[in-house]
Amino acid sequence: MNELALLGGTPVLDKCLEPYNSLGLDEEKAVVEVVKSGCLSGFYGSWRDGFLGGPKVQEFENAWKHYFCVENVISVNSATSGLYAAMGAIGLSPGDEVIVPPTTMSATAMAPLIYGGIPVFADIDEDTFCLGLESVRQNITEKTKAIIVVNLFGQAGPLKELRELCDTKNIYLIEDNAQAPLAKEYDVFCGTIGHIGVFSLNYHKHIHTGEGGMCCTNDDNLARRLRFIRNHAEAVVESADEKDLTNMVGFNYRMTELSAAIGLVQLGAIELHVKRRQHLAQQLSSAITDLDGLTAPFVRDNCEHAYYDWIIRYDAAQVGVSRKLFVDALNAEGFPCFEGYVKPLYQLPIFSNNVAIGNKGYPFSLSQRSYHKGLCPVAERLYEEEIIGFETCAYDINSGDLGLLSTALNKVFSNRFALINKEK
Ligand SMILES: Cc1ncc(COP(=O)(O)O)c(C=O)c1O
Repeated sequence: MNELALLGGTPVLDKCLEPYNSLGLDEEKAVVEVVKSGCLSGFYGSWRDGFLGGPKVQEFENAWKHYFCVENVISVNSATSGLYAAMGAIGLSPGDEVIVPPTTMSATAMAPLIYGGIPVFADIDEDTFCLGLESVRQNITEKTKAIIVVNLFGQAGPLKELRELCDTKNIYLIEDNAQAPLAKEYDVFCGTIGHIGVFSLNYHKHIHTGEGGMCCTNDDNLARRLRFIRNHAEAVVESADEKDLTNMVGFNYRMTELSAAIGLVQLGAIELHVKRRQHLAQQLSSAITDLDGLTAPFVRDNCEHAYYDWIIRYDAAQVGVSRKLFVDALNAEGFPCFEGYVKPLYQLPIFSNNVAIGNKGYPFSLSQRSYHKGLCPVAERLYEEEIIGFETCAYDINSGDLGLLSTALNKVFSNRFALINKEK
């Protein structure tokens, strides 16, 4: 009965976990109401009432503003759009440098490129997986215009310290808070500590509208510029009497009334959805406390973790089998987990091939920077050797399933030496 499924035994979970669905009757009603109203988008790309979007968009932005205690909220059609708009709003210009982490979803590091900015990769902290303060400090130059910190996997980056650093250096702190709704640092919501914070509402997230994003800022000028960039700035700035035309080329980053109506309902249940993930992650962490070589997610003092993913560190030397074999064995038991999250972003062809051709392409031609293996050793080690992850937002897990996931972890660990022959 204890024979590992990878070696022919019976899996602990003999079914696929159901996908999590946060949508219900209330979302359905909200959508029907919008369809009946005949107004699927209330935006207009000129300086009129419709410049700020339709009634649901404005109601949703207001509700978000009150919930997260922030002065301004600008909805967008994705967090990617929000990050791009944020780079425009801060006046990012060709050759400006933006410090980013290498371990994150690609949009974080693409955002500076849209305005001719140069992404500069600082290494991450091995415990939190977020930007490491020391590496950030080492990478600041007179060209640095901003830092994009990612509250990765639901964990707050060192926000207070980064904000102080940015204020001292007169540069911007942008929070990519796509994965960390309701996460907190010193009792303040992540996504509201930087000059701009960007949330994602894509369908993988704690709450969602299919696609969507929310930008938060306490700076009225940044808010105004974000609204221009969201909605055809070039056609609006003259009537709006906007004097600073830097980056006032607009996009269509507008959210639909349908998404906003769903978002309003989802926001009403955000605590429930986040708590479910927190509970799940905490239970999984308790299941591995006695398993030497597996380290549960670290939560910084004075922080609340939103557990977008449950990420553990694996020490192959201590466990005695390779990470790949361990993960294969867990998958075979019906525990869907992955190795490594994403490859450090500077290893993507857009960066690494650029080095090969001598940094010729724009905007890389504006910089002597080289993107090479070894740039961020901690990020590389965690990716290549240590991280094992489980997508807490992806599955609908009842207490029975949770018990089975814990059993699977213990079963693979206890029987791991049986895997060694497979490794040879
Ligand atoms: C850290 C991070 N940043 C940005 C994004 C982009 O979000 P969106 O899909 O809403 O554009 C994601 C999406 O997964 C993300 O995880």
